[in-house]
Amino acid sequence: MAAETQGDAKATDVLDLKTRNIGPVILLGPPGAGKGTQAKALVARYGIPQISTGDLLRENRARGTELGKQAAAIMDRGELVPDELVCSMVAARLAEKDCVRGCILDGFPRTVAQAKWLDDFLARRVAESDQPWPPLVVVSIVVEYNQLWRRLTGRRTCPVDGTIYNIYFQPARVPDTCDICGSKLVTRKDDSEDVISKRLKEYESQTLSLVPYYRQSGRLHEIDGDRSVEEVTAALFRAIEHDRL
Ligand code: AP5
Repeated sequence: MAAETQGDAKATDVLDLKTRNIGPVILLGPPGAGKGTQAKALVARYGIPQISTGDLLRENRARGTELGKQAAAIMDRGELVPDELVCSMVAARLAEKDCVRGCILDGFPRTVAQAKWLDDFLARRVAESDQPWPPLVVVSIVVEYNQLWRRLTGRRTCPVDGTIYNIYFQPARVPDTCDICGSKLVTRKDDSEDVISKRLKEYESQTLSLVPYYRQSGRLHEIDGDRSVEEVTAALFRAIEHDRL
């Protein structure tokens, strides 16, 4: 793995992180790498929104939209939703006001076609916006296969506030109950063993090629995700702030 960025952000600079133009940050990594868990820490530090394509698709599904209906069976099989559907959903979300200083892209892009679409979108935005974003920051979170398996089979999620738990690594204080709102935790439909296996294969065949794609642009940070949540968070802050401060 490439050497990680070292050193802490300067204290004075940290003070204005919530007003700074952070731009788009891509969290790249296989299912279970910790993208959703880490995105929440980045939202808290930088004050920019998390855009999780998985969450957006699940919301569409729950609301019974046309997109949700088209995506449901594909997601249940652990396959990728077609690029054109996902890209137009992301375009609509990126146009919302809260993205003005940037966003955390969690689970997007996932194919080379999506990455190329995003490059074009960002180039157009730079040309047209009166508050252009700085260049992409891309962080790949690397986690060993067996660890991914335990993370996914052990994951539990709060259906109300989205807090992510794990029965092995990050258990709720009271089993199956959200620490924050007391709701009963749920297991994601695609966290069954056969679907996990398919999702990991999809990652290898369709998404892993984004690592060399972004490496050649010189914008890729690779971090070791096989550590505690807090250690991974600290490595992410260093990578992003290396590029932004
Ligand atoms: P999506 O919802 O994006 O799922 P995913 O990419 O498979 O990623 P996960 O949400 O499973 O994992 P994560 O990396 O966020 O890990 P988490 O933080 O939860 O996509 C679902 C489906 O939607 C796809 O299969 C596809 O069909 C469709 N889709 C979505 N985006 C698409 C796109 N762009 N194009 C086409 N289709 C798309 O953590 C996992 C567990 O590990 C948790 O229990 C957590 O508590 C634990 N954990 C986290 N970090 C640590 C740590 N450091 N140590 C120990 N445990 C940890």
